[in-house]
Amino acid sequence: MDRSVALGPVRLRSPLIGASGTVGSAADFVETARPEYYGALVAKSVAPESWDGNPPPRMAPAGVGMLNAIGIQNPGIEAWAAEFGSRLGGIGVPVWGSAVGVTPGGYARVARGLEEAGVEAVELNLSCPNLEGHGLIALDPSESARVVEAVRRSVTAPVSAKLSPNASDIAAVARSVADAGADWVVLTNTAWGAAIDIESRRPRLSTMTGGYSGPPLKPIALRCVAEVAAAAPGLPIVGCGGIRRGADVVEYLMAGASAAAVGTVHFSEPRAARRIDRELVRWCRSHGVSRVSDLVGAVKPW
Ligand SMILES: Cc1cc2nc3c(=O)[nH]c(=O)nc-3n(C[C@H](O)[C@H](O)[C@H](O)COP(=O)(O)O)c2cc1C
Repeated sequence: MDRSVALGPVRLRSPLIGASGTVGSAADFVETARPEYYGALVAKSVAPESWDGNPPPRMAPAGVGMLNAIGIQNPGIEAWAAEFGSRLGGIGVPVWGSAVGVTPGGYARVARGLEEAGVEAVELNLSCPNLEGHGLIALDPSESARVVEAVRRSVTAPVSAKLSPNASDIAAVARSVADAGADWVVLTNTAWGAAIDIESRRPRLSTMTGGYSGPPLKPIALRCVAEVAAAAPGLPIVGCGGIRRGADVVEYLMAGASAAAVGTVHFSEPRAARRIDRELVRWCRSHGVSRVSDLVGAVKPW
């Protein structure tokens, strides 16, 4: 079974990616999980300076999904590079960095630091609050493009943009970041959500609203993949949202994604990629598919 897929300039041995924020720095994750089942692992997002994140509670179950408002707690790029830079090579899987910031220059600084630390690609988390007083960057095609342009000028590694399902026109944002030089897009980050404990009358997150992830996100993120695949043919896509089984990966690939990032399932099942890989291979064999890449965009319109 040929599991390899092409993602713009990159060739992955597997379509499975470890989603940012769910696999730690990657170096620590591989101590418990199996790296050989991933095409790449994306480390937790890093900012130009250290961020404390939000006060607790900042993770809560909500239905069959999960709410979080971690607030990108991270040590800042310099401390991150000093702690993990020397541990990224030789862990059996390519590591991609994730940059976050509030200005295009800040993103570029982090991206340079990640590249110097040895990551093989830089993912731009455009779903963080506030860029110079504006809202979520990924809601705005031109703000998003400004970040990608600044980073593109600063690094030689492949650059991807992680977009938000909260955008009113995600296809416009995707086209804009592609024009600005993004090598692929990641669809998607979490959707805004909230929950209340009615006995204590307190929000389940200290911030009231946070990011909703897990299985209920899948139809929403899949809709984003389908829209972008139709609006920006040729722009490679990593699908992300609610992946739990091999069949979910098949669905994302058919919708037009070239790879599929696995997130929330890691918290209940850190070794999920091995099972998902087995289910994917079994599905392909039973459907006469010898190359996983043949599934990309294979959806048949009515
Ligand atoms: C606890 C938690 C922390 C996350 N942290 C990040 C992060 O630092 N950077 C980022 O780009 N996405 C982050 N995400 C979003 C995930 O990478 C992923 O896009 C999202 O959870 C949807 O996929 P899933 O439903 O498989 O979890 C985080 C998600 C969770 C649940």
